[in-house]
Amino acid sequence: MAEVAFGGSAEKISLEEVGLRFEVDGEIATITLDRPEKRNAQTFATWSALAQIGDTLPQQVRIVVIRGEGPSFSAGIDLRMFTPEGVPGQGSFAASATLDSSTFEQRIAQAQQGFLWLRRPDIVSVAAVQGHAIGAGFQLALACDLRVLADDAKLCMKEPALGLVPDLTGTKPLVDLVGLSRAVEICLTARTVGAEEAARIGLAELVVAPQELEGAVRDLTAALLATGRDAATATKRLLQGASGRTLEEQCAAERREQVVRIKSLFAGS
Ligand code: ACO
Repeated sequence: MAEVAFGGSAEKISLEEVGLRFEVDGEIATITLDRPEKRNAQTFATWSALAQIGDTLPQQVRIVVIRGEGPSFSAGIDLRMFTPEGVPGQGSFAASATLDSSTFEQRIAQAQQGFLWLRRPDIVSVAAVQGHAIGAGFQLALACDLRVLADDAKLCMKEPALGLVPDLTGTKPLVDLVGLSRAVEICLTARTVGAEEAARIGLAELVVAPQELEGAVRDLTAALLATGRDAATATKRLLQGASGRTLEEQCAAERREQVVRIKSLFAGS
């Protein structure tokens, strides 16, 4: 049974018990949401386990693929959270509502840690999405750098329709990718965005037939790995910072990164 150790603690999360698989093949790590009978619904334990995978990612890994077993990528948060009984061992929204606000926010911050590491500059994360990606499922796909969709993919930001906000790091990448107006429209209508539209509005890099999804992700990762690790990391870091900088600041950042690159390539430092 795959287990992930908490940093510095003896406590371990059993990936199998939370419905995840984690496999490493050289420079490529694959995380599989593996509760297909429940359409890969996610819980707080899923997000803790994702965070622990990020914390303990083997150093050689450069690509992280996130995929879902079965017909859906992920049907979002486990709907038992909305019931009085909740998810065994993890509580319910009713129980969470009794926490003081700062403790509750801290709990959400912990959940967000499961998503945030996927943006690390030293890796490229790729979501392979078939079928439904709803709520937390859509946000997990948005947390990745790149999205490859099967043509049956259905993306839906369901949270507002349930009285919630999307809080698993998805709002910023959504706005960055599709713009504020389209993001407002997608979230407040909670409508389903199909694969073809997703590609057209910037939510997907590639759309393929469902049976070609695995091969398309394999080809994409191979192409990404053709660029050396240090140049890829520096370039991703540069691109990630671009929208928050002025042109002058970005030019300065380019110069800084390039000096390091050329010194390392040609002066051995
Ligand atoms: N949480 C817990 N169980 C779920 C969830 C979920 N989010 N989604 C599906 N399941 C379970 C179903 O209860 C069913 O279980 P059962 O066989 O024991 O009855 C099983 O998964 C299969 O579900 P179906 O609905 O039969 O599968 P289908 O392929 O027809 O539909 C779909 C898939 C569209 C994803 C549908 O299950 C659905 O709408 N799920 C709820 C989506 C949702 O509202 N998620 C919350 C979003 S908000 C957020 O994530 C914060």
